[in-house]
This record gives sequence, C-alpha cells and structure tokens, in this order.
Amino acid sequence: MKGIVLAGGLGTRLHPLTKITNKHLLPVYNRPMIYYPIQTLVDAGIDDIMIVTGGNHAGDFLRLLANGKDFGLRGISYAYQEGEGGIAAALALTEHFARGEAIVVVLGDNIIEGNIAGPVRRFREQGKGAKILLKEVPDPQRFGVPVLDGPRVVRIEEKPAQPKSNYAVIGIYCFDNRVYDFARTLKPSARGELEITDVNNRFIEEGSMTYEILEGWWTDAGTFESLHHASNLVAAGGANRR
Ligand code: G1P
Repeated sequence: MKGIVLAGGLGTRLHPLTKITNKHLLPVYNRPMIYYPIQTLVDAGIDDIMIVTGGNHAGDFLRLLANGKDFGLRGISYAYQEGEGGIAAALALTEHFARGEAIVVVLGDNIIEGNIAGPVRRFREQGKGAKILLKEVPDPQRFGVPVLDGPRVVRIEEKPAQPKSNYAVIGIYCFDNRVYDFARTLKPSARGELEITDVNNRFIEEGSMTYEILEGWWTDAGTFESLHHASNLVAAGGANRR
C-alpha cells in the first residue's frame, strides 16, 4: 500500500500568508503543516510516500523534507502539479507511483490527534473498494458531508447549504487502484475542480465504500480560524507526533 500527501493549491483562503509560500509549509505550532500528514501515514505503517505539490514554492518541499530522514524514511517521491485542477486532478499524477496498488491519500492540511492504523488495517482486510473517515463537526457545510443510512453511506454532498448529517468526510481516504479509472471520468464541479467527493460517490454507487468514525480530534488548517485552532490543539498535546 502506498501513501500520498496532496500539498498543492494556492491557499487563497490564507492570503497574504500564502503569497510567498505554500500553505503546507506554514507553521502549525512547532512544525511545518506537511509534517503532520506525513507522520499520519508513517504511524499507519506506510513508508512509501509521494508528495504532490505545485506552484512557485515546490522546491522548498525538497529542501525541507529531503529524503524523509526526520520520519525514518529512506526516500520520498515527489510529483509536480501544473495548474489548479483540484484534488482528483492532483491524484491522477500519482498513478505511475501506485503501480496498481491500493493507496491512502491524506490532504496536506488535515491534522489528527491519534492514528489511522486501525482503519487502514481494516481497509486491507476489506480487500477492495474504498474507506472514508468521518468526524462530527459543528459546521458541516464547510466540508464533504455524508448522507447516512445506519452502517451505509448513501452519498456524499460537497459543502451542502443544508447538511444531511453532522459529520464531515475528513481528508484521509483509502482507495483501491480503480480510483484512477474513476478519476479519469470526472467532470469539473461548480468551483471548476475535479472533486474527491465525486470519486468517493463512484465507490458508493458500486457498493464498495465503508466508513468509520475517527477517534480523537481532527482539524483542517486551510483558513485563519482552523489554522489557529490546529496550532492550539497541537500545543495542548496529544497530537500524532513524536
Ligand atoms: C476538501 C474536500 C472535502 C473535505 C475536506 C476535508 O475540501 O473537498 O470534501 O471534507 O477537504 O478537509 P477543501 O479543503 O478542498 O475545501
């Protein structure tokens, strides 16, 4: 199983902080933001990792992370995303790296307290399809929101005005290799992007999607409020770092 961290995008919601650097290099308490998603993968036993980034600051990732020694890795792979195609477009750049294997994708601004070793193990046992992780939130309209029917997820709605549950689909996804076939068939959404939510809905339609509720806190860090909140949570301790 391979790990992928998506760290592209313009980070416009964080201007002017992101005018001269990439969002994922900004500090979250005592580490650059991208350290957290990498550690999340490493803690789940995934040591073959690709970072997808883009823009003018891509070289800074190489200088910061080098060959992954800080994480006990022997190497890290990198891909460069030209333009702003959204999460699913970034994912498409990793197909050759995955080499037919299943993948765990972590959005570069998603930070968790605990670890995903359990969910990843259960995804392996599942054998095919996909798994998403949910977390109850006070503001679901900011996220992908699942429509649930007991143990089944019926569909996911991206940033709905009237959310049908109080859960966010967090930015950590397990996919079998057909994710790349699904990503190829997507059409741009209203915000002009290829959405990860549309990929997830394909797996749901064919009945191969499972979900779990994540234990411990979770936050994204792509707005001023959430970035500040993320730093406070990490500073208070108990986050997934060494
Ligand atoms: C993205 C996804 C959304 C998900 C969120 C988690 O939103 O589109 O479904 O809930 O990440 O962080 P974005 O941050 O691109 O607005």
